[in-house]
Amino acid sequence: MILSIESSCDDSSLAITEIKTKKVIFHKKISQELEHSVYGGVVPELAARLHAEALPKILKEAKEFLPQLRYVCATTHPGLSVSLVEGVTMAKALSMALNIPFIGVDHLLGHIYSLFIEKDEKLPLIVLLISGGHTNIFEIKAYNEHTLIAKSMDDSFGESFDKVSKMMGFGYPGGPIVEKLAEEVQSSNCKFTVPLAGRKDIAFSFSGLKNQVRLSIEKQEFSFEEIAYTFQQTATKHLLKEVKKVFVQNGTKDFAIVGGASANQYVRDEFEKLCNEFDKTLLTPKMEYCSDNAVMIGRYAIEKILKDTN
Ligand code: KG4
Ligand code: ZN
Repeated sequence: MILSIESSCDDSSLAITEIKTKKVIFHKKISQELEHSVYGGVVPELAARLHAEALPKILKEAKEFLPQLRYVCATTHPGLSVSLVEGVTMAKALSMALNIPFIGVDHLLGHIYSLFIEKDEKLPLIVLLISGGHTNIFEIKAYNEHTLIAKSMDDSFGESFDKVSKMMGFGYPGGPIVEKLAEEVQSSNCKFTVPLAGRKDIAFSFSGLKNQVRLSIEKQEFSFEEIAYTFQQTATKHLLKEVKKVFVQNGTKDFAIVGGASANQYVRDEFEKLCNEFDKTLLTPKMEYCSDNAVMIGRYAIEKILKDTN
């Protein structure tokens, strides 16, 4: 079995997976959303202190499996350094104490492998990663053969939902809050322009859209529900427009959306339509594995163990 630890942002998560079968044996996550909510975003020092409390607590619950561990892994990057160090230190201490190897895992590859939890890897793949820290399109040709096709020039997709929620005086994380508000209306006269319209290259930008939302809130012409509806629609149109450019030039059959914001049902429905139009197959992680979790970190480490030792 492999023990995996995720502590890159505001979720303390630990999982144990059987390497041969990829079966998840144990998974627990303690989220810090409530503690950060009052600040409208993640406070790094608070996150680190809460990880230091939560991780040993979860490890105690998984104590019975410790003798069966053959590897231990943790997210090493990218993320908040003071948070990452909590998980990495615990993983390295376990590695020494149990005399088993430590594997460092890239958080973004973890999100991509959230697609393959309890399943075999299925590549090649075009992936749209939408999280609180990133909005990236990757081409994954094979294990460890990935190319970054596009990224955001400023805010990420998830972050823009967090900021819109904050501007409206609601909590963190903003994604589910804004999605819920948007579901309350079916149409609106509120209009925002789609970012980077008319550009030929593939890129993302959400800070201009955020400013359009701020001005609209200040003008008080539309309800929060209408603004949320138009914001979600416009931000998603931007994602669709950029991904469409990739579809036109790249024949890869499978397309996936991963990351915390891939839990958004409107985004999933819109990409389902685009994939049908281009004869692509849409892959998404199970809802419980969209946001940060240790299972996906363990799943990537398993692939590494299987591929790098053969
Ligand atoms: O992947 P994740 O858990 O953490 C990072 O690696 O950043 O993603 C968290 C982000 C937050 O910005 C959150 O607001 C966003 O994902 N998110 C959503 C939804 N659920 C979470 N954004 C839009 N719609 C959602 N339903
Ligand atoms: Zn993440």
